[in-house]
Amino acid sequence: MTSTIVARGLRKRYRGGRGTTALDGFDLEVPAGIVHGLLGPNGAGKTTAVRVLSTLLGFDAGRAEVAGADVARQPGLVRERIALTGQYAAVDELLSGRQNLILFGRLHHLGRREAHRRADELLERFGLTDAAARSAKDYSGGMRRRLDLAAGLLRRPRVLFLDEPTTGLDPRSRNEVWAAVRGLVADGTTVLLTTQYLEEADQLAGLISVVDAGRVVAEGTPDQLKSALGADRLEVVVRDAARLTDAAAILARITAAEPVVDIDRRGLRVPLRNNRVETLAATIRALQEAGITVADIGLHRPTLDEAFLQLTAHHPTSPSTAEAAAAASSPTAAASPSLTAAAASSPTTAASPSLTAAAAPPSPTASASPSPTAAGSSPTASASPSVGAPVSSSEVGA
Ligand SMILES: Nc1ncnc2c1ncn2[C@@H]1O[C@H](COP(=O)(O)OP(=O)(O)OP(=O)(O)O)[C@@H](O)[C@H]1O
Ligand SMILES: [Mg+2]
Repeated sequence: MTSTIVARGLRKRYRGGRGTTALDGFDLEVPAGIVHGLLGPNGAGKTTAVRVLSTLLGFDAGRAEVAGADVARQPGLVRERIALTGQYAAVDELLSGRQNLILFGRLHHLGRREAHRRADELLERFGLTDAAARSAKDYSGGMRRRLDLAAGLLRRPRVLFLDEPTTGLDPRSRNEVWAAVRGLVADGTTVLLTTQYLEEADQLAGLISVVDAGRVVAEGTPDQLKSALGADRLEVVVRDAARLTDAAAILARITAAEPVVDIDRRGLRVPLRNNRVETLAATIRALQEAGITVADIGLHRPTLDEAFLQLTAHHPTSPSTAEAAAAASSPTAAASPSLTAAAASSPTTAASPSLTAAAAPPSPTASASPSPTAAGSSPTASASPSVGAPVSSSEVGA
């Protein structure tokens, strides 16, 4: 298996109260050496996925492998190969940055000298050398979060789980953490990052899986997610409102589409699927020839926000999401390397040149023995196939 993280059909149901199915057929494949973003609305199941994959939480069905080890059968091995940084920094406030790292090193059974050496190396890498002797309580939010990241890296994990690493940070601190994450990936660490900041996913992630209601509903590079869900737009703002109608007629002629007119902004907007640059050039020429002064003109790709809202506005089984899925596997979208719409299980999707077939049926191996721990603990769990028993259906220590 070449992927560093593989999850197939994970199911996790919290049993308190009326019970919540937090993961409901969660599939994921993360190639080595990239930042893979898990993006989704509150309660989508991102943290649950991270906790299951990092062995902090048992699961009811499905299987998962992380850094070459089976999450259910080899949790110890998984833990040796990963690090996890949660939303709240785990550093000791009273100790200095350097003391914190040495302490973590010793806790991870590094020898005294090695713990010191590694601490200094990490302080340097995260730009904390100058602050190394100050106590962590005097660190800014960004510094603290970087120290926390460093603490997770003492043992050189192959996979780093980052659950909302920049929540609550100001833009400058966020940039510092981003730079640190980029550095790690450049060194070959694979990062699974959950975030609610679309910009963060856009900045850092090579691939993004959009999670909704416990499963992955779409997957692709940030650009693929943006473009598969909507055409680029050609936008024109004219200087003189009196020429708006003339400009609209020119745009309609060139693009063979009806522009949307925004009278207040003196703007025109029209979707473009093909020949984007040529169309832009032709429009500029035609407007010039007609003596229309342009205040602004450009091609605009839909933002990740727009793609995200479109994907998660509906439950995955709803018709509209199926439409989005169909759109993603349409000939137009497929012409560019397409995003995978996991909600669609149609042959079209499977045939499209997608990145990951998130809707792929469970592999034959996934239908082996029902998990002993899960069996009997809930009707759903005992009925569903699962490979390898989760450590336990409740929490285990890290
Ligand atoms: N310990 C728990 N016991 C019961 N239900 C839980 C527990 N933890 C999470 N849930 C529920 O499981 C679902 C998924 O939660 P999870 O924390 O994984 O979502 P998330 O995508 O990380 O959300 P957020 O963006 O708010 O962090 C939610 O409905 C949540 O209420
Ligand atoms: Mg969460």
